Amino acid sequence: MDNSLSNYIKLLKELGFEYVVVDGETDPKTVEEKIKKLQQLNQQIQNCKKCDLYKERIQAVLGEGNINARLMFIGEAPGGDEDKQGRPFVGRAGKLLTKLIEEAGHKREEFYITNICKCRPPGNRTPTPWEMEACFPYLEEQIQIIDPKVLCLLGSTAARAFLGRNVSITKERGSVINWKGRLVYLTYHPAFVLRNPSHEKTLLEDIKRAIQLAYKED
Ligand code: URA
Ligand code: SF4
Repeated sequence: MDNSLSNYIKLLKELGFEYVVVDGETDPKTVEEKIKKLQQLNQQIQNCKKCDLYKERIQAVLGEGNINARLMFIGEAPGGDEDKQGRPFVGRAGKLLTKLIEEAGHKREEFYITNICKCRPPGNRTPTPWEMEACFPYLEEQIQIIDPKVLCLLGSTAARAFLGRNVSITKERGSVINWKGRLVYLTYHPAFVLRNPSHEKTLLEDIKRAIQLAYKED
């Protein structure tokens, strides 16, 4: 890694990035460009007032993980722990997600993890359709920068945001759908599995399948 890049990564750490994972594309210019764009996106969301969720957030939560990930996990919105720590999926649901990724034989850092809405809805309510619509362009930009092959949507709220219709996740989990040239894979939200532990095995199988899809050569 050249010096300017390692200095740049130090700067990002000072700015509050917990970690930066670069796995896959190693061309320093591409990596630096991706990091720069993500940093700009982070500045935008930290200052964003497009929807009312800005009023009660401690901070917006961009997402984290491998900036070259082939698979992106997308949840609903930060909860209390995420809002405090500025990282996605670090509370109880996040710990389950991390555990299942490990049971699938992988590491959380291999992938990129984010949410539809970047700010915490008060009391962890479901984001409204308008809040999701307002925040979606940030996610779209994030997807363009990271360029994953597969988007694993966690829960019916994330699925609704992408498909523009109500989704019964118990009926549709396991579906693979083409979305703007990428694959979306639908599965349960880990918080749902915490409330319904009999579905844990299915979520694990789905995570394995999403990973397989992401790494499959085509
Ligand atoms: N639930 C989500 O949907 N996202 C998080 O980041 C944490 C919990
Ligand atoms: Fe902006 Fe998204 Fe936060 Fe709403 S949830 S204020 S659109 S960053």
